[in-house]
Amino acid sequence: MAEIGQDIQKAVEILRRGELIGMPTETVYGLAGNALNEKTVLEIFKVKNRPKFDPLIIHTDTLDKAQLWIQGLPHHAKRLAEAFWPGPMTMLLEKKSLIPDLVTSGLPRVAIRIPSLDMTRELLSQLDFPVAAPSANPFGFVSPTSAQHVQDQLGDQLSYILDGGACAVGLESTVIGFEGNEVIIHRLGGLQLEQIEEAIGDKVKVQLNQSSNPSAPGMLKSHYSPGKPVIIGEIQEELTKHENAGVISFDQDFGVKNQVVLSSKGDLAEAAAGLFAALRKMRESDVSLILTQKFPDIGLGRAINDRLRRAAAK
Ligand code: TXA
Ligand code: MG
Repeated sequence: MAEIGQDIQKAVEILRRGELIGMPTETVYGLAGNALNEKTVLEIFKVKNRPKFDPLIIHTDTLDKAQLWIQGLPHHAKRLAEAFWPGPMTMLLEKKSLIPDLVTSGLPRVAIRIPSLDMTRELLSQLDFPVAAPSANPFGFVSPTSAQHVQDQLGDQLSYILDGGACAVGLESTVIGFEGNEVIIHRLGGLQLEQIEEAIGDKVKVQLNQSSNPSAPGMLKSHYSPGKPVIIGEIQEELTKHENAGVISFDQDFGVKNQVVLSSKGDLAEAAAGLFAALRKMRESDVSLILTQKFPDIGLGRAINDRLRRAAAK
């Protein structure tokens, strides 16, 4: 089992040695290692059991440092960086050759992000290399939103998990790319579409990738698997059709034994923060299937619906 602790210095030393740690961020926990060290990056793919065609996000603490590893910022990217970094936003930008092709699965652009959690930024500020960090879950499973989640699934392959508490956002970062003057969302996440449109003063295109050779291959259709059937529908009606069902609802109490009401006050941010923990809870309970609902298709509701659709995909 891994040690769980809050010793940033210890995490820095492990990363400098080219080894991996569990790293907190405001979105989800990452499986972190030196992105410039190919052996380390190979180890990330191995521990996560992730196919090498699915590229990794690199993390750093300032825009100045980010410029060491990217070719420059298109003007929309600059605007977005100013508005939303540090934060739950990842941008796909032309990489410099320092970034190993392994990190980007041979693609010319690297996914880069400046996380906002203080502990993470403190850690990253002490490193002169970017940190590659996919979500710290085995490929295809639900992302971890606490140190214990990382321990449960990858603890036997790590020596240290830096504990930054429960993730405040609870959904992965929004992945954004640029084509000419267009801004494209490749993964819905913690930064809302509406916020992006407001910042650039224009519409954005949503182009989620789901096939086998996409530009964000991690968006394969069946992802976020809780290991049990998930049905999205009218919960009350579905409850009459299924025995031994667990319920994950937005704000309504259905009075069943295995139930998570994500936000009784109907707050989408609160619901997002609790979603992955709820899926894990259902996985660990003895329910034979999970009933859930469609969320309002606005703001974080879009990303919640996306994760639920993927959890429900066969
Ligand atoms: O919130 C997050 O983004 C978390 C925390 C740890 O930062 N990380 C995360 O990483 O969710 P991961 O590896 O689970 O998801 C990364 C997503 C995948 O969908 C991947 O395909 C896409 O970003 N991606 C990474 N590099 C890419 C690239 N060069 N081009 C296109 N898509 C890329
Ligand atoms: Mg992931």
